[in-house]
Amino acid sequence: MIAARYYGVELDPGEFRPAAGEKIPGAASLAAWAQDAGMWARGVRLRWKHLLKLNDTSPVVLLLADGSAALFAGANVEHNVVFMKDPAAADGAPAVPVDELRLSQVWDGETVLLRGERGLQEADAPFTMGWLVSLVLRERRSLRDIGLASLTLSFLTIFPPLLVMTVVDKVLQHHSISTLALLSTILLLAMLYETVLGYSRRLVVLVVGIRLDARLNLHVFNRLLKLPLDYFERHPAGETMHKISQVYKVRDFLTGKLLTTFLDLVTLLVLLPFLFYLNSALAWIVLGCSCIIMLVILTYLKPLRGVFKKVVLAETEKASALGETVFGIKTVKSLALEPQRKALWDARIAEAGKWRLAFGKLGNWPQTLVNPVERFMSIGIVLFGAYMALEDKTGYAVGALFAFMMLSMRVAQPLVGLAKLIEDYEEVGSSIGEAASVLNRPIETDAASGGLRPKFAGAISFEDVSFTYGGTKLPALDRVSFSVPAGTMLGIVGRSGSGKSTLTRLLQGINRDYSGFLKIDGSDLKGINLRHLRQSFGVVLQDNFLFRGSIRENIIAGRPGLTLEHVVHAARLAGAEEFIELMPNGYDTFIEEGSPNLSGGQRQRLAIARALITDPRLLILDEATSALDPESEALVNANLQRIARGRTMVIVSHRLSSLTECNQILVLEKGHVVDIAPHRTLLERCSLYRQLWAQQNRHADLQGGPRHAALAPALAQAD
Ligand SMILES: Nc1ncnc2c1ncn2[C@@H]1O[C@H](COP(=O)(O)OP(=O)(O)OP(=O)(O)O)[C@@H](O)[C@H]1O
Ligand SMILES: [Mg+2]
Repeated sequence: MIAARYYGVELDPGEFRPAAGEKIPGAASLAAWAQDAGMWARGVRLRWKHLLKLNDTSPVVLLLADGSAALFAGANVEHNVVFMKDPAAADGAPAVPVDELRLSQVWDGETVLLRGERGLQEADAPFTMGWLVSLVLRERRSLRDIGLASLTLSFLTIFPPLLVMTVVDKVLQHHSISTLALLSTILLLAMLYETVLGYSRRLVVLVVGIRLDARLNLHVFNRLLKLPLDYFERHPAGETMHKISQVYKVRDFLTGKLLTTFLDLVTLLVLLPFLFYLNSALAWIVLGCSCIIMLVILTYLKPLRGVFKKVVLAETEKASALGETVFGIKTVKSLALEPQRKALWDARIAEAGKWRLAFGKLGNWPQTLVNPVERFMSIGIVLFGAYMALEDKTGYAVGALFAFMMLSMRVAQPLVGLAKLIEDYEEVGSSIGEAASVLNRPIETDAASGGLRPKFAGAISFEDVSFTYGGTKLPALDRVSFSVPAGTMLGIVGRSGSGKSTLTRLLQGINRDYSGFLKIDGSDLKGINLRHLRQSFGVVLQDNFLFRGSIRENIIAGRPGLTLEHVVHAARLAGAEEFIELMPNGYDTFIEEGSPNLSGGQRQRLAIARALITDPRLLILDEATSALDPESEALVNANLQRIARGRTMVIVSHRLSSLTECNQILVLEKGHVVDIAPHRTLLERCSLYRQLWAQQNRHADLQGGPRHAALAPALAQAD
């Protein structure tokens, strides 16, 4: 933390996550901690000589064997000492010189390097072909090995034809058995070598491919998590998943076709001169035919590209239809919408099929045209070569012809492969485009990494805040001003669409391009670190997602340092304890995806417990109790006062009866603030509030006034 402070970054000890089974913080997990706070950090192993070379005076953290740490503050090469600071020492304490022997007794090299600026990181790099290539090039050493292996393999491919040539020319003509025996031995050895080399080459290709795959996967997922919520709200999940899956097509291309073609080209470089040496006239035929094939393929490139775009579009639509159906299957089934979904699916399949067919038909042409040229190449060589051998009186040409025939296909293959590669590149280019259209969106990272990390007391103030969603004309919030003192309860009411949820979204930093000032404890929300902000909030929505896992895991949600005690406490506050204890395995009851084994109210109470477990200073409940039955709602409401103790609460609710205890109630109408005051004052002076109240309490009124309103179930929603 002291080293980070040197760069003006305040690290939060609460955010440190030790690696599994780690007792003393290791360099890697410390580095990850600093990285999360937006710094550049690496956990490395250094030696004495490295320390001597570190001559800038910024702090470097040495992790000592006893679990403590020291700050490296410079070195003196002449005297062979380094200067260390004890972080526990007083601020102005001088650095202590330490020599190699003394340091080696307490330090085995574990070091954390830190920088304030993290610069453009790999994770922030846009997803382009160039970036992918650089990713591949990071495997430079393996690639070099593969290249070398391929080169030797290509030389070895020359061997058999050469031998055949010698056998035909020498052995058959001079009847030399001993030469044959020698040739056979050499051939056998070469074969053995080729086998071993081939095996290793495939192994290296495999490893490189898998490493690349892991890097790509990490990058893609990181990037996806960093996209703003906005993006996910505007794009169907199926479409996003389809587009992301295109990345793997690119991976296949890079490690499959691209690599093999590249390797084949190495072969070509070796073989082509050899072919010319064997028979230049035939070599020209091979070269000419290959060029014609390439030309044909290249001509069809552009029209194919046009049709392929349509294929991609149709496939994306298809994927989004599938995704939508799967995610909304409950609605589909309960409303018996299967025929409609089927019809939609039919249409999507037909569309995709139509364009695939068009693409296939068009793609059939170059193949058809290329085929006779390929045939001519192989047969032409034989015929033409035979003719030349007949004309040639020396007799040596026959051997060369055999050798040539064996090799010519090996030359034609990579040439044709090269042209096909360009065709594939088109396809991959569009895959990259698709994946990039998701991955290269502006991410939240700048806000997530920088900014302040204040300890919140929980005072909120809106000053003239206006906000309009992208693509809409009317503002969702229009010059909203109010303030909430720390530790108080704010209720928000208003008709549906009046901007209640929008207000809470601005508070959480989900939508950030509002005008005006939104402050928490007096500091501007835009200047606060985004992750810190969201971690300080507890949020419960109307519909909450529970992950696969036990109840306990769901309430803890992976946050470090929490125990079952915390879970039980949070569950009690949320009014969930009672039903959890009745479940077959209590807190270890397993919840499947979509939590089918829980009722809506139970799910809701778990979500409330999940929000409460970190003991957040600020708690937002957006219609959190509207899915609850009157009894559990009364239970949560009764707990509300206890829940509210020591924190600021923002409660959005259609049921006004649950808000009567709030310190203030904000009444919104079409994005405007109509009034803000406690319940009683509003009843007296705010006609809209009175109207909403009357709508919900008609029943109570008839029975003699709204005395029991706090317990009365809502009969009608505000809308
Ligand atoms: N993601 C969005 N994109 C575009 N417009 C939106 C988006 N979310 C909300 N709106 C619009 O902003 C306005 C305010 O919506 P908001 O969700 O804040 O209303 P609300 O008061 O929470 O309503 P409800 O009580 O029904 O939940 C509405 O007119 C809505 O159409
Ligand atoms: Mg809402």
